[in-house]
Amino acid sequence: MEQIIINGGHPLYGSISINGMKNAALPVICACILNEETCIIDNIPPVSDIETLLDLLASMGANVNRLTKNSVEINCKNLVPCTSSNELASKIRGSSYLLGAEFGRFARSSVPHPGGCSIGTRPLDLHMKAFEALGAHCYHKNGRLEVECENGRAVGNTIYFDKVSVGATANAILASVLADGMTVIDNAAREPHIVDLAVFLNACGANITGAGTSVIKVKGVEKLHGCRYSIIPDMIEAGTYMAAVAATGGKVTVRNIIPKHMEAISAKLEEAGATVIVGDDHITVESTGKLKGISINTQPYPGFATDMQPQFSAMLCFAEGTSDIVENIFNSRFQFMDELSKMGADIKVDSNHAVIRGGATLSGAPLICHDLRAGAAMVIAALATKDTSVIEGIDKIERGYYNIVGKLRELGADIQKKVSAADEQRYTATR
Ligand code: EPZ
Repeated sequence: MEQIIINGGHPLYGSISINGMKNAALPVICACILNEETCIIDNIPPVSDIETLLDLLASMGANVNRLTKNSVEINCKNLVPCTSSNELASKIRGSSYLLGAEFGRFARSSVPHPGGCSIGTRPLDLHMKAFEALGAHCYHKNGRLEVECENGRAVGNTIYFDKVSVGATANAILASVLADGMTVIDNAAREPHIVDLAVFLNACGANITGAGTSVIKVKGVEKLHGCRYSIIPDMIEAGTYMAAVAATGGKVTVRNIIPKHMEAISAKLEEAGATVIVGDDHITVESTGKLKGISINTQPYPGFATDMQPQFSAMLCFAEGTSDIVENIFNSRFQFMDELSKMGADIKVDSNHAVIRGGATLSGAPLICHDLRAGAAMVIAALATKDTSVIEGIDKIERGYYNIVGKLRELGADIQKKVSAADEQRYTATR
């Protein structure tokens, strides 16, 4: 079993470059299904969720050519719909975007129930509601979600979402790009990755307006053409390193980012006592490591992202005073708090509300990652604790963070990845 071993208590200094955003790359890669021509996607993060999705498309007949670590050429002309394998599709949440993309091009889709992080109930009712508004019939069969449209092409309509959903908004866009007529998506998600999807599709000839606001209009077009496109930087990866330096103390510049996307994160770091200096495409965070307690209330963008809540919770264990954390998006995203408690953190959780009394002296512990961002929180807690911690379940972290160990070492952290002798033998044997 692979482990990350951290001897904490060292401030972080230096600068690191941020990768492309996993949660933007997933729908953009699926959007290539709508296109019979070739697309080249740059700034892809080489993380395991993306690798799984690319393998999935290839297994369905797409031509997937990895040009470099960060660039991939995709042609989906010969992709066969409804053939996604249970094994690959059920590993990642991003496979849910096959539903909108397959339905948008072929007027039918079949996808096993998607996987992804275990952070609470993750229904697909809003996705189904969108497909039905466009003329589809949706049902469950043999553990798969089936979407089909008898008249062979989706028909534009108004879709109103009762709740803001990133995934359902992306799927509604994917399903309506080639539809007959105009689709209006009301109460849409405004996340930067929704804008990225729309900008990519427009670069391929789609007609989408309003992305980044809560009303998105999609005027159906007959077909798309190929293009070359670069994925936006990962605001959550950047925010994770910013929270880490705030907790450990030091001075770190995160490069290759869009500071506008970081506003909620930057504001909360400043409120906690860190100094945040914003540049054109970079942000520098400086911290003495002496922070104060703050309140966090997770909201859809432009509010404070649920994907940053665990990392901030870990950071706030080292702040003086009390922090109130309210998790409004997912109903089980506090599981990692038990791990922080194992280190000696003073945390009380009541439903979706956690109270962290900071200032306790934490000690190293064997820690287990429950999900991607919880894993990042474990790393931050271990980095800021003057002791040794061993983190297991790092495959969860590697779903979304490229080379986290290498990047933190560049910043001066005492961190290493240890592969068990048995695993090492297995890797050597398969090489
Ligand atoms: C995306 O998940 C991200 N995943 C998540 O990233 C992120 O936490 C989340 O958006 C919120 O920002 C990917 O992009 C692959 P939602 P998604 O639909 O699309 C409810 C990470 O760590 N809902 O916006 O699944 C849902 O239960 C992760 O990278 C319905 O009720 O999230 C939740 O309460 C994990 N019915 C809320 O909406 C639906 O049909 C928002 O979920 C769909 C969602």
